[in-house]
Amino acid sequence: MKIDLRATLRAHNTFGFDVFADHLAYLTEVSDIPLFVEKAQQQKAPWQVLGGGSNLVLATNLLGYTGLMQIKGRRLLESTDTHVLLEAMAGEDWHEFVTWTVDQGYGGLENLALIPGTVGASPIQNIGAYGLELSEVMDSLTAFDAQRNEWVQFSAAECQFAYRHSVFKNDPNRYIVSSVCFKLPKHWQPNLTYAELAKAFSEQIQKKEKITPKDIFNKVCEIRSAKLPNPKILGNSGSFFHNPIVPSQQYQLLKERFPHLVAYPANSSSSDWKLAAGWLIDQCGFKGYRSGHVGVYEKQALVLVHHGGGTGSELLALAQQIQTKVFDTFGVQLSIEPVLFA
Ligand code: EPU
Repeated sequence: MKIDLRATLRAHNTFGFDVFADHLAYLTEVSDIPLFVEKAQQQKAPWQVLGGGSNLVLATNLLGYTGLMQIKGRRLLESTDTHVLLEAMAGEDWHEFVTWTVDQGYGGLENLALIPGTVGASPIQNIGAYGLELSEVMDSLTAFDAQRNEWVQFSAAECQFAYRHSVFKNDPNRYIVSSVCFKLPKHWQPNLTYAELAKAFSEQIQKKEKITPKDIFNKVCEIRSAKLPNPKILGNSGSFFHNPIVPSQQYQLLKERFPHLVAYPANSSSSDWKLAAGWLIDQCGFKGYRSGHVGVYEKQALVLVHHGGGTGSELLALAQQIQTKVFDTFGVQLSIEPVLFA
């Protein structure tokens, strides 16, 4: 296991903030994981593992040991009449993995195309987009429990998935995911629950024309590229805030005061509503706003961007400014989505 001392993390976070890791360990084999934990424990040093660095804000140098998850591999584990079971190692690039599944003819992950990051990070925040959440397609995962020093398996139910949440968020310094298994149906049906996707395919549906996973994949890539900045070009971490979930009563009062409020029923098992945070921020006049080296993306107000030369602290100050204005205007508290190191 290679370890660099005082290594810059600029290329390892999609905001492109230039902070340092005291020790940067490259995890390329499954056996590197317990070794990495042992090293940190021996030194009584803190540790953290980064995947693609696409869901974090680095506002400080990272002390102790930082592991870069780079374990590669993907394979078909099982194929029955009803489903296939696919395994991907934690360091696989998420979008490359989705592309591979679609190219192999396996439908089921295409709505999650083009999400930046790694396979290992995908269950932590239960990634979701365009009508699908990871929790609906994940079968199980393998992780190293750094508290008990043993390997453990989690079924999807044991991950306690919720909107952008899992059991791993409750206990951030305990588990390191090594691989994730996905169960995809043989009798695939397109998931067109997201309105813009349904609209794009309405003609084919009407004419009863065949739609393939590749068609959905291409359309999702198109929609996503039009709305969200490419982190290779403009530093960002996707949505910066959760879409807030409020009780029905609060939603009704807001809807009376703001008839154009954008909101959706949060889920089928409660009467809560999920508000479009992008709309709230947009209404406060922040879309395209710039403050020094950081700002709000011009096409999607939920995305904060780093124009270069700035710091994570500058970004967090902007986030705070947005939270205050949204709260003063709507009485709704926005919570930050990425993991903070501050
Ligand atoms: N809207 C505005 N102004 C804006 C942005 C949005 O008015 O600047 C309104 C529009 O009416 C729009 C609605 O908000 O129709 C919802 O916007 P969008 O469909 O773009 O989705 P979102 O709620 O902003 C969520 C996820 C995204 C995911 C999309 C598509 C969260 C925090 N974000 O965004 O996930 O791609 O839905 O499913 O749940 C991510 O987590 O990093 C991410 C990009």
